Amino acid sequence: MLYYGADYNPEQWPEPVWSEDVALMRRAGVNLVSLGVFAWARLEPSEGEYRFDWLDRVMDLLHDNGIGVNLATPTASPPPWFSLAHPDALPVNRDGVRLVHGSRDTYCVSAPAYRTACDRIATQLARRYADHPALAMWHVHNEYGTWCYCDHTAVAFRDWLRRRYRELDALNDAWTTSFWSQGYGAWEQVLPPRATQYLPNPAHLLDYRRFLSDEMLGHFVRARDILRGFSRAPVTTNFAFGGWVPVNGWSWAKELDLIAIDCYPDAAGRGGRQQVAFAADLARSYASQGPDKWMVMEQAADMTMTADGHLARPAGELTRHTLAHVARGASGAMFFQWRASAGGAELWHAAMLPHAGPRSRVFREVCALGRTLRELPEVRGETHSEVAVIWDPESWWAMQAPGLPSPSLDYLDAVAPVHAALYRLGIACDCAPPTADLTGYRVVLVPGLYLVSDEAAANLNGYPGTLAVWYFSGLVDERVRVRPGGYPGAFRERLGVRVDQFAPQPPGVGWELSTGDTASTWRESVTLDGAVAVATHPDGTPAITRYGDSWYVSTRLSDPGLTRLLAGIVAAAGVSPPVPSLGGDVEVVRRGGSLFVINHGDHPVELPSAPGRTVPAGGFLTLPAY
Ligand code: GAL
Repeated sequence: MLYYGADYNPEQWPEPVWSEDVALMRRAGVNLVSLGVFAWARLEPSEGEYRFDWLDRVMDLLHDNGIGVNLATPTASPPPWFSLAHPDALPVNRDGVRLVHGSRDTYCVSAPAYRTACDRIATQLARRYADHPALAMWHVHNEYGTWCYCDHTAVAFRDWLRRRYRELDALNDAWTTSFWSQGYGAWEQVLPPRATQYLPNPAHLLDYRRFLSDEMLGHFVRARDILRGFSRAPVTTNFAFGGWVPVNGWSWAKELDLIAIDCYPDAAGRGGRQQVAFAADLARSYASQGPDKWMVMEQAADMTMTADGHLARPAGELTRHTLAHVARGASGAMFFQWRASAGGAELWHAAMLPHAGPRSRVFREVCALGRTLRELPEVRGETHSEVAVIWDPESWWAMQAPGLPSPSLDYLDAVAPVHAALYRLGIACDCAPPTADLTGYRVVLVPGLYLVSDEAAANLNGYPGTLAVWYFSGLVDERVRVRPGGYPGAFRERLGVRVDQFAPQPPGVGWELSTGDTASTWRESVTLDGAVAVATHPDGTPAITRYGDSWYVSTRLSDPGLTRLLAGIVAAAGVSPPVPSLGGDVEVVRRGGSLFVINHGDHPVELPSAPGRTVPAGGFLTLPAY
């Protein structure tokens, strides 16, 4: 059975609404809800005073109706009484401003009072609901990602640094503090990277991100262990995605019983579905490093909030996106939230049950999707990928430091187009950390891997299959210290090239390569050191090179050019899509014994017959538009 449901926030509604909720949930085929995510003030209206009677009634009501509960620890939104009693537990931003309650996530994860309060509420919930028959899993916190620069953080940061470097000299060396007179003479002099006068130290910034990830993971593990002390239900937390999220999914995956992601694509049409595919491949890959299972904890049933306002969702898209997740291995897909709020900060956020109520296009689609998921023959097994795309949060974080040679250098902007090109080709891929065992793959793609440890470099250089590396890779080690002797530092020998100079290009300037494809943004002066040029710039110098099974792409290709290049690379390695391309609007994914074919386009598509495929009389299957 695939999970299907949403965040359910009954605390926003009078009790008579709850029975209507549950009746409509049944109609929609909902079988799981996340409960209590933001209910701390309701559960503990003042310090140590608990009100569980209402939650008891909700849990019972859901159970009586066959709906399971993903019960949350409500720690992402401490109540006002907490922050007034413990102002030192409020987050301080990098400018030194202490934020106050009035929104959510107003806590410092390192503050002792916050930790104590979190332990207390988690213990109370675990004790009370561990044996409740509705309990299906635990949802710790919500979207870890709050940054803090306060004095508690400073203490915790120093402890983390002491564990990492042991000696202050080692820290001074790792941070290259000889530059700009930054040498530390005592641990107490080390601070979180608060606002400073000009360019900050990139190694300091990166260690702070690493620290935040570990510190938040520590918070998760504490709650998890409390819950596990009372209950055997799986424990998860929902990952947010974005450059602001200081969570390293690879290290977290090992601590979770189930990977859960929130997926809010911020582009329409093809861009949106490429983001869905990427999020799903990443989640499945995290799961493969830990608990094996993953699910979508949140998506939007209608308009999605983006930085540019709300993005409308065309009819049927939530079904197609949900099935795309399932095709890539999801154990289910949920929404934020069940019933659209009437007030509060997200009163215009979409929901399974919109403001208009059940007589609405969205609710009809939600019900149809519930039926579709229920009726899917059980999908077993996993997608099988022969291609891996290296995904490294540390390179992402390191590339966010100011002072890079071009403002156009962006990690996600290096990786996402490579993944999107595979998507266009219908080639399944996994994501993998740079130190993973890669021997099961035929092709490994390394876009924008700015930072590589010695261990990762040895792993990638020793990988026996086809390796393709993109520009701005292999340049610095884990201390953000340049690997000297020519770029791309760590990968020079494997790629058979040596670069002595970068030539960032102004925005909007493009040029044609010898292959006829367009390049832009970035150039390098590449000397061949064994490799041959397979594409050259107009002046005849190498743009793309090949050295046996190793490729180097030293410029930014347009999307069609990238797709053509990857088609050639994967074909040469003997990798092909599960069926020949059905055009750019048809997504084809194999999961175990099932082939998912999703038509995102506005025209019907005829599927070719293939040996072993059951097709209706007439010899072919027609997949309707959308
Ligand atoms: C998520 C969050 C939800 C809700 C949603 C809105 O990031 O976990 O609580 O705020 O965004 O899109």
